[in-house]
Amino acid sequence: MDLVEKIKSKIDVGQYDGVEKVVLAYSGGVDTSVMIPLIQEVCGAEVVAVTVGLGQDEYNGSGWEKAKEKAESLGAKHYFFDATEEFVEGPCWQAVKANCLYQGSYPNSTALGRPIIVEKLVEAAKKEGADALAHGCTGKGNDQVRFDICTHSLMPDAKIIAPVRDWNLGRDEEIAWAEGQGIHLPVKAHSPYSVDSNIWGKSSECGPLEDPSLEPPEDVFDWVALPEDAPDVAETVTVKFEGGKPIGGVGLLEELNALGAKHGIGIIDAMEDRTIGLKSREVYECPGSTLLLNAHKDLEKFVFTKEENQFKPFVDKHWAETVYYGLWFNPVMDAMNAFIDESQKKVTGEVTLKLFKGHAKVVGRKSGNAIYDHNLITYSSDSGFDQLHSHGFIKLWGLNTVTAKKVMA
Ligand code: ARG
Repeated sequence: MDLVEKIKSKIDVGQYDGVEKVVLAYSGGVDTSVMIPLIQEVCGAEVVAVTVGLGQDEYNGSGWEKAKEKAESLGAKHYFFDATEEFVEGPCWQAVKANCLYQGSYPNSTALGRPIIVEKLVEAAKKEGADALAHGCTGKGNDQVRFDICTHSLMPDAKIIAPVRDWNLGRDEEIAWAEGQGIHLPVKAHSPYSVDSNIWGKSSECGPLEDPSLEPPEDVFDWVALPEDAPDVAETVTVKFEGGKPIGGVGLLEELNALGAKHGIGIIDAMEDRTIGLKSREVYECPGSTLLLNAHKDLEKFVFTKEENQFKPFVDKHWAETVYYGLWFNPVMDAMNAFIDESQKKVTGEVTLKLFKGHAKVVGRKSGNAIYDHNLITYSSDSGFDQLHSHGFIKLWGLNTVTAKKVMA
């Protein structure tokens, strides 16, 4: 049976009644290319393909025009939005301020990119008068959650079409169908991996990575050098921050990505808890984000009081989880951002990192706002700190503990 007939026999086609125009999140790859004619046929609707640039290599320069040509050859109108600068200056720099690491290891690179992609899709949908948004996510991952919730937060009435999830499409059958129809798909070297990348990092899963006991094969890594192949000579780099934000924009992040990649920095092999409850293994390459996050965390420790250092990590953890779970547009994000922005006012200064074979170690920091007084901390005899004050402090600080031990003895 023809694939379109098969799909129509399995689903309730009536749900697409009234859908005349669909905006599709379009990468230019094989899967989203097959979706153009499939959506046209199954839903009987016009398709507008939207590609959003977040600093991916393949869209640099005029690279995105390949996606445009492909989409147009398949009968779709195409939009390209270059949102790289907006992404870096917005979500990426806010993630630095929030020390964003999901489950302590993943800088949320894929997750941070989704809301801005949806914003651009919705912008195109409103301009085009489209009634539905479509994406290529499966029914097993986090990205479907992010796409759907972000879409409905910005365009509550939009219908969502996710062919892979909703029509239970198999990759092989969709490709065979397209070939049978004489549809010319973009050719891509065969890779066993599913990859998503933007300027904040690259995520890889599937293929041999699905066995968590196996070390990731070398061919996964095409951004970051293996630490053992990285230069034998260390290199230092100094990063400056003002109000918690790295000083520099897209150019700075590109530079740090190149430098970190050269030194084997930012390879993360994570066992991860997905929003929907599945446990997965994902391998990340996040050179620039790892450098910035290491440096920023150190600077915070330098300028924060003990109480700020104790409290902010709770907010940071919740921020990373909320972003990962697809709740970017939840008002709790505004409340957390207000706290984070307030805390960052004094996070100004510079941090020097030494890069060597996969490690980025902080080796120095400077700030006019540091809660660090050399005259107090120095062990030399002319220190302004009166050590005798510690007697009384220790008596009271330990009072509860010492009394409790006495009572229990
Ligand atoms: N696990 C990551 C996340 O949910 C990345 C998901 C996309 N990964 C991929 N290889 N396509 O944010």
